[in-house]
Order: sequence, then structure tokens, then C-alpha cells
Amino acid sequence: MTTTATSSAPSLPLDMIIFGGAGDLSVRKLLPALYMAHLHGNLPPSTRIIATGRHDYDRAGYLEFVQSKSQPFINERNFEQKAWDEFLRMLEYVCLDATDTAGFAALAKLSRQGVQRAFYLATAPSLFTTICENLAASDLIDGNSRVVLEKPLGHDLNSAREINAAVGKHFSESQIYRIDHYLGKETVQNLMVLRFGNGILEPLWRAPNIVSVQITVAETVGVGSRAGFYDETGALRDMVQNHLLQLLCIIAMEPPVSLDPDAVRDEKLKVIRSLRRMTLGDIARDTVRGQYTAGAAAGEVVKAYRDEAGVPPDSRTETFVALRTYVDNWRWANVPFFLRTGKRMQKQLSQIVIEFADPPLSIFPDAPRSRANRLVIRLQPEESVQLQLMAKQPGSGMHMLPVNLNLDLQSAFSQRRAEAYERLLIDVVRGRLTHFMRRDELEAAWSWADPILAGWKELGEKPQLYTAGSWGPDSSGALLARQGFSWIE
Ligand code: BG6
Repeated sequence: MTTTATSSAPSLPLDMIIFGGAGDLSVRKLLPALYMAHLHGNLPPSTRIIATGRHDYDRAGYLEFVQSKSQPFINERNFEQKAWDEFLRMLEYVCLDATDTAGFAALAKLSRQGVQRAFYLATAPSLFTTICENLAASDLIDGNSRVVLEKPLGHDLNSAREINAAVGKHFSESQIYRIDHYLGKETVQNLMVLRFGNGILEPLWRAPNIVSVQITVAETVGVGSRAGFYDETGALRDMVQNHLLQLLCIIAMEPPVSLDPDAVRDEKLKVIRSLRRMTLGDIARDTVRGQYTAGAAAGEVVKAYRDEAGVPPDSRTETFVALRTYVDNWRWANVPFFLRTGKRMQKQLSQIVIEFADPPLSIFPDAPRSRANRLVIRLQPEESVQLQLMAKQPGSGMHMLPVNLNLDLQSAFSQRRAEAYERLLIDVVRGRLTHFMRRDELEAAWSWADPILAGWKELGEKPQLYTAGSWGPDSSGALLARQGFSWIE
């Protein structure tokens, strides 16, 4: 599959049309990101942002809503009244239900001619098809249009295929931006530079020099106001199938020949296709599903998942997943990749740990039995890259201790770091597809995840309970301990 996209500075004025314009994502992420893009002069002149939603606001009512709900998500340091007022002047609102043609007629009237239209679908994916059909019927799509599809794109391979096929009837692949906001994070993009902008890592970056890879995305938050969505979704679909697999791809991919969207996405696709498909036996042995019970997270007493508003009291949805997988190719043969994500964990921590093989022979009497060298790439809460090495403890003996070579990105670069959504929205405006998922890549990710979901169903597995504020069920540690590893926290 190829997508010849032209990456260019925008020459046309922009109409950014957001479906789900009064929803949680718009309020917390999209509108603040667009404000920031405006503040830094990254939106084309005379941009207009048309939010749509089912709520019957008039324009003034919507502006008030944005002012009270969205502005608090802008860091005080970045707030400039003049830029904010200009931003508010760009906003329009259309009350529209995805199935309501009158609403689309009103949208068509408001959207200007001779502009570039970017449609951001921040609604339930079940509405994507209808929205695209109605956009086409209202003559709103042309060769300059772009569409951004928010995750989750479907709930399994079949639904993802259906959505992709339906959207593909109206937009070519080079017009489709499937967003995974992890690909917009500064440290994730930096991982590409770390791997491919340096010569020293590449010779080491393979089995048997690397003995394991761990990817953790731990959150202290619970499901918040999204219980309805989350209970239908669970952690595997919400986090693993997309964010964690994308991180795994960047760690495991071969060097792309360039940064062209297809060059990068071809390599990521090969990784996903090389992931070992799990059998029922693998699923029973190599995956852990957990659900949090009441406890304390981030210093707060919190309810059990089943007691959250909107969650059925007998819910079996997983709020935690840990699993072991393998990338079956020459570079990674037999190297376990341990993935873990959960809500209401002990602390917020997103990191990748690469564990290197031990020296072939230990000549020092107090050398650690294993794991002298690790590369720890931390994405959240702070960004850093640390290489753990052994060093001699000062003194008369030959005693060794681990020390860290610390690349502190925060102090190395003083520039402002754009939020993931801001960076990705600017990419949409500029036509840069590299950090978005291609159709085949997304479908391959579902092909890997589907058997796990089906396996869990077949095994009738109840999630294992873990106390909010812990690191998940004990069996998550056992998954690694079997091979002599442990989670690095
Ligand atoms: C979203 C998930 O995609 O990512 C949320 O739907 C999750 O459940 C969020 O909380 C985590 O993103 P971040 O950027 O806060 O790590």
C-alpha cells in the first residue's frame, strides 16, 4: 500500500471542522492544541474552526462553553488574552447529529469555498461511516480535504476494516490521518533520532545483545467520566493495540530508508506482522488481565472500578494488561517483549527499558549476577534517557555499583515542548503523514489483538483484582520472573 502525500506549508485558508466539538477530547486536548498552534503562528491565516455537536448551542453559547471548560486546560504560562480572543473569533458552532442532513446543509453553508477542509472525527467510531457519507452528499469533500480519525478505530479487525473501507470510498489514503497521539509525543519522536541518528546503538540493537524489552504505560487516573466507553473497550483495545504497539514498533523496526511516510510505515508494518500470534495456551500463560479494586492512588482514596459511575457492578472489563510477546524476525529472535499498562497504578510512569546481555564472564567478585546494563527511556512524567553502567566504587577494593549516564532532555533543550495533539494537528495542516497510521498497519495491529480478545472470552477469564495504587496483579511480576526478569519501576 502506498500513499504519495505532498508535505507542504499550507497555501489555502483552513476550515477545521470538528465532529464531537463539545466532547471531552475537544475540550481537554483539541481546542487547547489549536489555540497553541495559533499562538505560535502555526495555523494558516484566516483559519476557521467549525465545531459540531448534538448540543443545541448558538455561537455565543458555544464560546462561553469553550471559555469555561476548555481554557482551564491551557497552561497559565501559555495564556495570552489577545491570542485567546483571536482564537475565539475563529470559532463557529453547528448543531448537528451525524445522521441529520439538515445539520450538514447548515455546515455546508458555513464552510467557505476555495479552502482546505480538515475534518476531525472525534466521535464514536460507529459514526465515522455516516459522517463521511453525509459530508460527501453535502459536497464538502474535494481533493484538498483531509480527514482525521480518532482512535479507537473499530473494536476488532472486522469493524476496523468496515470503517476503513467506508472512509476510503470518500477519501484517498493520502487524505486520511489515523491519529495515535503517542506518535506525537516529543520523546517518542526522539526515539527515532536516538536509534537512527546515532551510529553506536545500531550494532548492539538486536538479539543476543538485547535480552529483553519492557514497555510500561502506567496511569494513576481511573476511567473518569468515560465509563460507558471504557467498559465496552478495556485496556487491550484502549492502550495496547495502539499506543503500546506503536512504541514497540519504533523500538523494533528496521532503519527506514527515509522519513517519508511510507518508508517509516512500511517498517512498522513489518514489525506488527512479525509479532507472534498467540495461541490459547500462550494467552493463558503469557497474558494477565486485571481490574482495580478500591484503594489509594496518587494520594487519594479511590473507588473500585466496579463502583465507578456507569460501570456495571459485575463488569469483567480489564483495566490492566501485562503480556509477553515476541517479534519473530532475525533481529529479535527469542527476545521477550513485556508490555504492561493499567489505570489506578502506583504512579504515572511511561517508559521503555532495554536490557542488555551480561558480560560473557565475570572477573569481579561482587559483580551483580545479572543486568548490569539497561537503557531506560522515560516518556512520562519527565522525559529522560538513562544508560545504566557499572562503575568502580572509589576505595581500595574492586567494588562495583550501577551508575547512570543521564541524558536529561528537559535541561538539554530549553525550548517549549508542544503537546502531542498540537504537533499532530500541525502535521495535518501541513500534510505530513509520517506520524499517522496507515490502513494496513492498523489492520495488522487488530489481527494481532483479536485472537487475544477471543482467547480471553474462550477462557472465560475473570480479571484478576488488584488494589488501586499498586502495580497490578501479582501474576504480572510472575510473568517476568519465570525468565529471571522483573519490572523496572
Ligand atoms: C488514550 C486512552 O488514548 O490515552 C486513555 O483512551 C488514556 O484511556 C490516554 O488515559 C493516555 O494518554 P497520555 O498521553 O495521558 O499518556
